[in-house]
Amino acid sequence: MQEASTKKIYDIHSLFYDATFGRLVRRRIARAIEHMNIKATDRVLDLGIGTGVSLNYYPNRGRIIGLDLSTGMLRQARKKILERGLEHADVFQSDALWLPFADNTFDHIFISHVISVVSDPFRLIHEARRVAKPDARIVMVNHFQSTNRFIAMVEKWLCPLCTQLGWRSDLALNDLVNRTGVQIDYRFKLESIDLWETVVISNNKSDVSVTNPKAIVAA
Ligand SMILES: C[S@@+](CC[C@H](N)C(=O)[O-])C[C@H]1O[C@@H](n2cnc3c(N)ncnc32)[C@H](O)[C@@H]1O
Repeated sequence: MQEASTKKIYDIHSLFYDATFGRLVRRRIARAIEHMNIKATDRVLDLGIGTGVSLNYYPNRGRIIGLDLSTGMLRQARKKILERGLEHADVFQSDALWLPFADNTFDHIFISHVISVVSDPFRLIHEARRVAKPDARIVMVNHFQSTNRFIAMVEKWLCPLCTQLGWRSDLALNDLVNRTGVQIDYRFKLESIDLWETVVISNNKSDVSVTNPKAIVAA
């Protein structure tokens, strides 16, 4: 996936996302957010917030910052913020691979159905860890490549089609762990047979070396 084509694909998705995929994922998003334990003074960053399905499930406390590439998806998210008077939430357009935030800014990072959409999932994790405070919680919801060799083969085979639709189906969690050095606290699925899972990571910063001196701090 390349960001320019992703933006176009999700501008189109925005027209029907909430009525289709959004419906499918909302229960999973709600459960994942429960695992963040958001406090009144916390800052939450929602990377690739899309139409803002998650906005329905954040508690009414803390500061929620969402960003996304797609103008269409953000339009839907802004509509929710306005209609529901969510004064503690704000969304803006930005590339999650180049975050305009200082190191150690956020208490929680949510990456929901995005890690297999960006062109460089390893950079996304690196950026998330950079802007997250030490020991902040990074919660990721996604489909990862099956560990069953036959299913993994099918997923690889389906990948070109999935890419046309806006995501890749062959991202392996093991690869992500090995190449980024993240340590998973725990992971779970909503059902015993479920294509998606929630992965909870504590931000152990000892091996994050990138800093961004030009970054701004979230309000
Ligand atoms: C499948 S949707 C998920 C939306 C939402 N997080 C959810 O779970 O319903 C993927 C979203 O990631 C956004 N996205 C993809 N690449 C991105 C990037 N590099 N930076 C910011 N957003 C990105 C897309 O525009 C799209 O809104």
